[in-house]
Amino acid sequence: MALMTTDAPALPDWDKLSFSLTQTDTIFECFGDLDSDPQWDEGAFKPFENVSISPAATIFSYGLSIFEGLKAERTEDGKILLFRVDRNAWRFGHSATQLRMLNFPEKRFITAVTELVRRNERFIPPAGKGTLYVRPTLFADEPQLGLRTARRYRVLMYASPVGAYFSSADAGVRLRVLEQGRVAPGGTGSAKAAGNYAGSLNRREQMHVEGFDDVLFLDARDAQFATETTGSNVFAKLKNGILVTPKLNDQILPGITRESVIQLAKEQLGLTVEERPLRIEEILGDVSELFCTGTAWTVRPVRELQYRDEITKFDAPDVAVQLLQSLRAIQSGEAPDRFEWIREVAL
Ligand SMILES: Cc1ncc(COP(=O)(O)O)c(C=O)c1O
Repeated sequence: MALMTTDAPALPDWDKLSFSLTQTDTIFECFGDLDSDPQWDEGAFKPFENVSISPAATIFSYGLSIFEGLKAERTEDGKILLFRVDRNAWRFGHSATQLRMLNFPEKRFITAVTELVRRNERFIPPAGKGTLYVRPTLFADEPQLGLRTARRYRVLMYASPVGAYFSSADAGVRLRVLEQGRVAPGGTGSAKAAGNYAGSLNRREQMHVEGFDDVLFLDARDAQFATETTGSNVFAKLKNGILVTPKLNDQILPGITRESVIQLAKEQLGLTVEERPLRIEEILGDVSELFCTGTAWTVRPVRELQYRDEITKFDAPDVAVQLLQSLRAIQSGEAPDRFEWIREVAL
């Protein structure tokens, strides 16, 4: 794709959307400096073009970068809805704090995301065809050689229409359990830090080659407890009907879908939900349904899990399907927004 062009980018074929980048009209760029007042400049909406950055920017050597991912969706009656943007705004700040970066104010995050969606409105797929995925990033663009925290930062936000994350996993994904952590104990695991993803890619690609859709990382201290996949949180429905999800800790991203699914399971499905350590043996012996949650993954059943040489198959999804339907109904505006999760973008 030629990202240098300023010609109006073409709309994609709405029937062929996948989870991949389509160039849209407008990006948001904002510069921050710990030593200036105010610390962030006004920011600007610009055409989707390459940006200029010093070759010595801290991000390139030391990886000071965090990001977010959220979706805007068109309803049947033409409204544009954002799902829980306030929670992404909170997590952007949480991630920045974990990496000792300059925080971007939550209000400004929400305003910028909303305006970005509005300005890229023509790229929001028709109802039922997909969503507009918004990717806010924050990174240290200060040129420096030595290893230290930075004083100058940049926020860049762009958007892309997307379809499903998995092209052919409607029957559920196949996961491989890795007896290793995704992140270091006591490290940046609860942040949406770019480096966490960089470190997970090699093993995931190896497992793709072996035919798995993704991997389930165990905890980095004992390699005994489930944490998360490369891009989603996990839930297990025990044979006794209780829903369990790993308790948040230094190795698990506080997923916004996770948080929403816990609330839906309790308040809409009347399930008991436990947030606690989840042993891999418990998953192999006591679980009837396993599923993953995330903005890109939505609610995705696990069909099969391989741990060492042992393959465990799970029941056909039932709770996962109900949760997916409840969640999607709210996100798409079909069901009333009883939890106040939705923000309408005024056109
Ligand atoms: C590592 C990881 N865990 C969990 C999630 C799920 O988080 P959310 O539901 O906020 O998308 C994501 C996706 O953002 C992720 O990348």
